Amino acid sequence: MNTGRFITVEGIDGAGKSSHLEFLASAIRARGAGVVVTREPGGTPLGEKLRALALNDPMEGTTEALVMFAARREHLVRVIEPALGRGDWVLSDRFSDATYAYQCGGRGLPASVFLTLERLVHPDRQPDATFLFDLDPAIAYERQRAQSRDPDRFEREAADFFRCVREAYLERAGSSGGRVHVVDASGSLEGVRDRLAQAFARAFP
Ligand code: TYD
Repeated sequence: MNTGRFITVEGIDGAGKSSHLEFLASAIRARGAGVVVTREPGGTPLGEKLRALALNDPMEGTTEALVMFAARREHLVRVIEPALGRGDWVLSDRFSDATYAYQCGGRGLPASVFLTLERLVHPDRQPDATFLFDLDPAIAYERQRAQSRDPDRFEREAADFFRCVREAYLERAGSSGGRVHVVDASGSLEGVRDRLAQAFARAFP
């Protein structure tokens, strides 16, 4: 029986989603399911090369969206669909909601272009559940600064950019028909994890 589920995690840079990936993977394993943990852009050898370009090389807005979706197509065909076909669960650090939030919300890409690309690249696939780590960009910025690593092209964006990205994420969550679960990512790691555990239990009773 095919019982695989496709789960994605999203949020602005610094919201802390990556810290909770292993927790989610354990929650899935605890149900006796196999889990493939992966990320976007990336997740395949070609996808990781496209990630390096997307995160470091300046490019025009539509080009940026095309690079994200090119990496996504490889990821779907080579990793996500085969894993789901085997009955594994797939846990991806970002997917198309990130393109909507960053490229449409942040860069001003028309939603119609996003929808066209989404239909082309994954007409029949959406995540079964998405956990959106929601945080005030000012707090996210402080968290990132504390990590003191070299910021990439997106992480160097100004606060206004992240306010727009956050708004687009919340708007998409609102119109997702319950697919996107918003997790308040403020406060302690333990507090966020508790709220995530509750959201996970609601999504997969
Ligand atoms: P991120 O997932 O935050 O990884 P890390 O924690 O290693 O920095 O980095 C990916 C960046 O790419 C992030 O700034 C958001 C951006 N991005 C888009 O702009 N569009 C997309 O479609 C995706 C998947 C990511």
